[in-house]
Amino acid sequence: MQSTNDIRRAFLDFFAANDHLVAPSAPLVPYNDPSLMFVNAGMVPFKNVFTGLETPPAPRAVSSQKCVRAGGKHNDLDNVGYTARHLTLFEMLGNFSFGDYFKERAIELAWNMVTKELGLDKDRLLVTVYHTDDEAAGFWSKIAGLPDDRIMRIATKDNFWAMGSDGPCGPCSEIFWDHGPEIAGGPPGSADEDGDRFVEIWNLVFMQHVQEADRITGDLPRPSIDTGMGLERIATVMQGVHNVFETDTFRALIDASEDLSGAKAEGEGLAGHRVIADHLRSTSFLIADGVLPSNEGRGYVLRRIMRRAMRHAHLLGADKPLMHRLVPALVEEMGHAYPELPRADALITEVLEREETRFRQTLDKGLRLLDEETSDMGEGDSLPGETAFKLYDTYGFPYDLTEDALRARGIGVDKDGFDAAMAQQKAAARAAWKGSGASADGELWFDIAEREGASEFTGYAATEGEGRVVALVVDGKEVSRAESGQEVILITNQTPFYGESGGQTGDNGRITGDRRLEMKVTDTSKPLGRLHAHHGKITGGSVEVGDTVHLAIDAERRDRIRANHSATHLLHAALRNRLGDHVTQKGSLVADDRLRFDFSHPKPLAEDEIEDIEADVNAEIRFNEQVSTRLMSPDDAIEAGAMALFGEKYGEEVRVLSMGRAGETGRNFSVELCGGTHVKATGDIGLFRIVSESAVSSGVRRIEALTGEAARQWLVGREEALKSVAATLKTAPDEVLERVAALVDERKMLERELAEAKKQLALGGGGGAATPADEDVGGVKFSGQVLHGMNPKELRGLLDEAKSRMGSGVAAICAVNDGKAAFAVAVTDDLTDRISAVDLVKAGVEALGGKGGGGRPDMAQGGGPDGDKADDALAAVRSLLAA
Ligand code: ALA
Repeated sequence: MQSTNDIRRAFLDFFAANDHLVAPSAPLVPYNDPSLMFVNAGMVPFKNVFTGLETPPAPRAVSSQKCVRAGGKHNDLDNVGYTARHLTLFEMLGNFSFGDYFKERAIELAWNMVTKELGLDKDRLLVTVYHTDDEAAGFWSKIAGLPDDRIMRIATKDNFWAMGSDGPCGPCSEIFWDHGPEIAGGPPGSADEDGDRFVEIWNLVFMQHVQEADRITGDLPRPSIDTGMGLERIATVMQGVHNVFETDTFRALIDASEDLSGAKAEGEGLAGHRVIADHLRSTSFLIADGVLPSNEGRGYVLRRIMRRAMRHAHLLGADKPLMHRLVPALVEEMGHAYPELPRADALITEVLEREETRFRQTLDKGLRLLDEETSDMGEGDSLPGETAFKLYDTYGFPYDLTEDALRARGIGVDKDGFDAAMAQQKAAARAAWKGSGASADGELWFDIAEREGASEFTGYAATEGEGRVVALVVDGKEVSRAESGQEVILITNQTPFYGESGGQTGDNGRITGDRRLEMKVTDTSKPLGRLHAHHGKITGGSVEVGDTVHLAIDAERRDRIRANHSATHLLHAALRNRLGDHVTQKGSLVADDRLRFDFSHPKPLAEDEIEDIEADVNAEIRFNEQVSTRLMSPDDAIEAGAMALFGEKYGEEVRVLSMGRAGETGRNFSVELCGGTHVKATGDIGLFRIVSESAVSSGVRRIEALTGEAARQWLVGREEALKSVAATLKTAPDEVLERVAALVDERKMLERELAEAKKQLALGGGGGAATPADEDVGGVKFSGQVLHGMNPKELRGLLDEAKSRMGSGVAAICAVNDGKAAFAVAVTDDLTDRISAVDLVKAGVEALGGKGGGGRPDMAQGGGPDGDKADDALAAVRSLLAA
């Protein structure tokens, strides 16, 4: 027997040997198609390659693509567990030609694969072609040698394949396997074709056209090939079973489910185990691809699948949560082919366990209510919509879970009644909201959010992707169209643009689309916390509500934001470690060019504290540990040590970011609740530099810091400054300090020398011409001098020198500094009995507008405010001497 894993391998190897590039399975959330909930066919990731928008990765490719058909247009959820081949997650094996080979080679490759590689009996195969496709019929007859009655012409849509109402399409040809006459069912095209006898195993699509709104509007640039073979179905054929749940992979999962639940997979329990096995696969793959349970969009489809499985686990009598304990069996079966599965192992386990634990709290009560309400109902009856709504609203029963629960008894559910109850609840919420006095602006957002649901943020993993325009706002009003030159706010159903929240700035970027749309997004906000609003100007073309647009964020800018955000978490942890647990976040700004963090702390940080904190953060950066994101209930998160922000409102689930090394307790350096975007590993931050520490208000400090290139540039700026100082000092940067110290000493010395020189100058020494000639006043030798810029302390010394020079006489000096005057007079001893220096000074001081002055008869001093009267002071002395 060939195992499912072997068949996948054989398929990929065969086409690789025939020059096909082996493409890994794309994630389940389609990045390139906002109209699709999940990737539902192997060609979806190549959609734009077929239409010529993207360059092919190679002329031929082969893949094993995981696909989900639940929710949205293709919804297999309701049937799973009850039929032989419906699954919510399946793998599609496919080979692709992008304008390379076409029909003939495609048929030849398929025939060789099926009959030679897989060794299927030719006599049990039959094929269909589109009724007008003579060419394909001819190739089947030539290549496979099939008789005409085993080449069936089908006129219906069954043999015309389209990806969706918009996109590439073309006629197709299907290969069927005949399970044998013991199984009920007729050949394709017959009345009982839906039986299980003839099963389609492979669909070859001859991609030729493009359609819009279900109408062919053009041809592909070049005819191409898209094929799809359901791996699980071909496994039934290869393993000689008739039901996908009997193939090896499912048997292994059902065995595990039997073991862990203690219930046998037989009788009434059979469907339950099948549901569990299938839903385990789809939920695990969805979680691994970033979808998390929520009440809207993709997250709600996931929740519906999970809860459906959880009800079955409960019915099987599993007394504790079961799903998460099956993850090891799944990873064992499929982890090798899909490495994303073991990588997300912990996340999947955690999400499943939490959801099941939570759902069990209401499941019992809900089922009891359901029993009571339906106790006297029977086949053909219908549960009132209001009860279904109550189960939904109060007990967390998704609508289809209620349907599933009643299915075995043949009881239906009144869907219209359910919808009406739902609409009524929304109207009540709206009325309550309106009564709360919200602004007109708020009302606009409320209308949009209610009509369209929350916009889905895809930007944790992606930096670009497509979205459907659900609203356009110009000048505060909704419009259906906007064009070049207009400032608009554009809202899409999904976007990689982060809307400003939690301190992290909104993304910038570009939105383009058909109608030659070019929009420059300069900000993204997050009104009501649910919508992502792109603000900007349309610089070219136009856009209409309903258009599909391509959204691309400025990824380099976002990388800088990521680094700053993660550095903020490390800084917060480092502050608490160094300063104490009283440190709590008071505010934060995470921009692309810097980060700012406000926190409670009573006093300024010391220089060495700042240095230590910076060093701690940089050490974590260098350890380059992976940053991990987990989803938990707020209470679990806080228990796990997450720093919760007081006063923040958290939803029923929170993202918990852990980064940095794990300490002895196993807790990472930083554990925080955060919805922002972060680096993959701390090393991506590069470098962290605190550039300022200041006060915001009493008890609140602020740190501003830089990371990565901005930090490097800041340091380069410092170095440049040092270099230019060195250049001015004509020395090397390393010697600047020494040189500056030497300069300071030199300056002190020069100051001393200058003072000495001035003194010399005043005394007429040093060849100066300032010394006045001695005069004869009233028979006494007199020397009078006005000196500018002379330190008054020098006066005494100067006068002593004058006295000794004169031998006998009177010397007076007026020193003028900053407009004020100091005045001093000296009288040689031989004259003091008749002339007093004190009298002379007093006369001079008066002339200077001052008062007093004093000393001894041989030397007296004083001063006055009128420096410009210096000559008058000398004149006053002269006249006293002359008298
Ligand atoms: N895209 C084709 C299908 O899904 C092969 O059937």
